[in-house]
Amino acid sequence: MRILGIESSCDETSAAVVETGGHVLSNVIASSSHTFHASGGVVPEDAARKQVEYALPVVHEALQLANCDHESIELIAVTYGPGLLGSLLVGTTLARTLGSMWGTPVVGIHHTFGHLSSTWLHDGGAPNVQSFPILTLSASGGHTDLWLRTSHVKGELLGRTRDDAAGEAFDKGASMLGLPYPGGPSIARNAEGGNITAFPFPLPLHDSDTLDFSFSGLKTALKYTMRDAGELSPAQLQDLAASYQHAICLHLVDRIRRAVKEHACNEVHLVGGVSANTALRLLVQDAVSVPVRWPQHIRYCTDNAAMIACAAGFLLQENPIAMKNAWSTSATAPLEAFLER
Ligand code: KG4
Ligand code: ZN
Repeated sequence: MRILGIESSCDETSAAVVETGGHVLSNVIASSSHTFHASGGVVPEDAARKQVEYALPVVHEALQLANCDHESIELIAVTYGPGLLGSLLVGTTLARTLGSMWGTPVVGIHHTFGHLSSTWLHDGGAPNVQSFPILTLSASGGHTDLWLRTSHVKGELLGRTRDDAAGEAFDKGASMLGLPYPGGPSIARNAEGGNITAFPFPLPLHDSDTLDFSFSGLKTALKYTMRDAGELSPAQLQDLAASYQHAICLHLVDRIRRAVKEHACNEVHLVGGVSANTALRLLVQDAVSVPVRWPQHIRYCTDNAAMIACAAGFLLQENPIAMKNAWSTSATAPLEAFLER
């Protein structure tokens, strides 16, 4: 089945054509993130305006690159939340409009469910075969969740952030250090060659039994470190970026290591924008004995429509009743299906 995915939850506008199972025929992404370099974060109204500008062209290009017309699209999958309201409205309105024009069913997909499906995306050849139960860290600018999944659509949320998301810790930290948005890639670039032990940072929630996350203490520690250090030389900036990045990664790894001890799993997956971080990938591989996977390309780590289409395919395979209801009632039905234990 060919599925058209649409993702517009933040500052990326994306459309993709994906075959059930994860074969990506096209995945077009237009981003307005460069317009937010100076502001240190996304301005919601500006992001929504850009969504309106990019929405139709990305769908058009995705169909063209996949070499198909709308008649071969059997399902439209769109992110319905969470995200910025104005941005989301553009994508959901577009999906519903195309659905009614083409007579194609439309299904709403939870953004995190999209990220959780992203390790199955591939560009042809052998499909990605993976073995449940899978422990997945989904870490982005908006959420940081630890899931234990027994199937594509069934799982238990073991832990989540109590304050900032991991990506937010990168973004806010970068802004404090005077580095451009998005902060993850900026800090990673500046951390290269830096000394990870040059500046001490706490390990949040280490002595507590929870599998939750907390990043606000690291942000505060960065603020006081910068106050005490005064003006930073380029070498000090490099060391501080490396130490701060290492502290965020160590906290993520600490939770994953604990979760793997407490819950049997065959694999660990890292998804969401933060899974693009090389230091994190290496630390997790060192910390656990099961295979560790992340999406095949960076473009599948950060927001993209291919993961939304892929998730819809899994939902249809595993829960056709929820899908049927979703078509005839509201686009929010699949969330309940996904969170059903
Ligand atoms: O999944 P995503 O594209 O959008 C949301 O759902 O939020 O994630 C974006 C987040 C941003 O906070 C960005 O700074 C972070 O992912 N990010 C990274 C890297 N690339 C993107 N964080 C750490 N290292 C990276 N290489
Ligand atoms: Zn995301």
